Amino acid sequence: FSLKAYNTFGVEAKAKYFVEVTTIEELKEAIKFSNSQSPKLPVLFLGGGSNILFTKDFDGLTIKLSLKGISEEIMNENEVQVTAKAGENWHNFVMFCLDKNYGGLENLSLIPGNVGTSPMQNIGAYGTEIKDVFVSCQVLDLENFELKEFDLAECRFGYRDSIFKQEGKGKYVILEVTFKLTTKNHHIKTEYGAIKSELDILGIQEPTIQDISKAVVNIRQSKLPDPKEIGNAGSFFKNPTIPLAQFEELKTKFENIQGYPNGDVVKVPAGWLIEQSGWKGKQIGNVASHKLQALVIINTTGNATGKEIFDFSTEIINSVKYKYGIELEREVNII
Ligand code: EPU
Repeated sequence: FSLKAYNTFGVEAKAKYFVEVTTIEELKEAIKFSNSQSPKLPVLFLGGGSNILFTKDFDGLTIKLSLKGISEEIMNENEVQVTAKAGENWHNFVMFCLDKNYGGLENLSLIPGNVGTSPMQNIGAYGTEIKDVFVSCQVLDLENFELKEFDLAECRFGYRDSIFKQEGKGKYVILEVTFKLTTKNHHIKTEYGAIKSELDILGIQEPTIQDISKAVVNIRQSKLPDPKEIGNAGSFFKNPTIPLAQFEELKTKFENIQGYPNGDVVKVPAGWLIEQSGWKGKQIGNVASHKLQALVIINTTGNATGKEIFDFSTEIINSVKYKYGIELEREVNII
C-alpha cells in the first residue's frame, strides 16, 4: 500500500498493511489484528502525516486515525472547553473555534496536521504553544486497551516535546484533546515581532482574535511552502538551546548571531545557522532548503526519496556543526 499520499513530504514508501479507522472499536480491532500475526506486526499510527519522513518501506500495519467530532462545554461566563477528536484537521478546528469567537488558538492558525498529534510535540508558533490552552487528552493504552486521561502536568510539555515523545513513546494512541478557550476578554498575543508588523500592514490597531489569525495566516503563507503544492514537513530541525557561555563565546566570532536568552541558556534560531552555513535555497538532486525559510526542507521535484531528504539533512547538520559547534536535532519523525 503506497503511503505517498499520506505524508506531506510526498515521498514514496510502502506499508505491508494499511487501514483507516473512524471509531475506537475499529482502532482496537486493527491493533488486535496486528497482535494476532506471528510474529506480531509492527504498527505505525498516522495522523495528518505532516511531521514524518519515511526513509524506507514500513513492514507492518499503518493505522490512519480518522476519528472525527467536536464537542463543547461552557464552563463559566468567560470559558468554554472544546474537545476535538484526533482525526480533525488542526486548521479547520482552529477556524471552527474562531467562527464561534472562542479565543486561544488563533496564533496557531494554519499549522498542518491533525488535532491528535498536536500534544505529541506541543505544537507552537507565534508566541503560543498548545500547553497554554490544553486541559487534557484521552488516550488508548496499548498494553491493556484501557482509556486513560492525561492532564496538563502529566503531559510534561516542553519545547516541541511531551511525555508522548519520551517515556510514553509507543505506549498510547491519542484519541481526543480538550482545550480551554475564552468566550470574551480574549488574551491577544502580539509579542511576536512578525505579528506586529503584519497588523501594521493590515492597518489594524486593536486586533480581534480573528485579526490575529489573519495576520498569522499571511505570515505563514508568505514564507512557508504549502505542502499541497510542494512537499515538506514544516521546520525540519528544532531550534537548538545552548549554554549562555557558549553563546557569548560564539558572539565574539560571529557578532550577528541571534539568540533568545532564557536564564543560563540561549535558544538559537536554526534557520539562521542553516542560512549562514550557506544552505538557504540550495538544491541537491530533488531536495532543497526553502529559499524563504532555511529551516524547511522541501521535495522540490516531487520525486525525492526519503533517503535523499534524510541525507540532505545530515549534510546540513554536519555543516552547522563544523561552523558553529552546534548539533542540530531533527524535529521530524524519521521512519
Ligand atoms: N532566520 C534566518 N534565516 C532563515 C529562517 C529564519 O535567519 O532562513 C531567522 C529569522 O530572521 C528570525 C529567526 O531566525 O530572526 C526566527 O525565524 P522565524 O520567526 O521564521 O521562526 P523559526 O524559529 O525559524 C519557529 C518554529 C515554527 C514556527 C515559527 C513561528 C521551530 C522549530 N519552528 O520557527 O514552527 O512557525 O517559529 O513561531 O521551533 C514547525 O514547527 O514546523 C514550524 C513551522
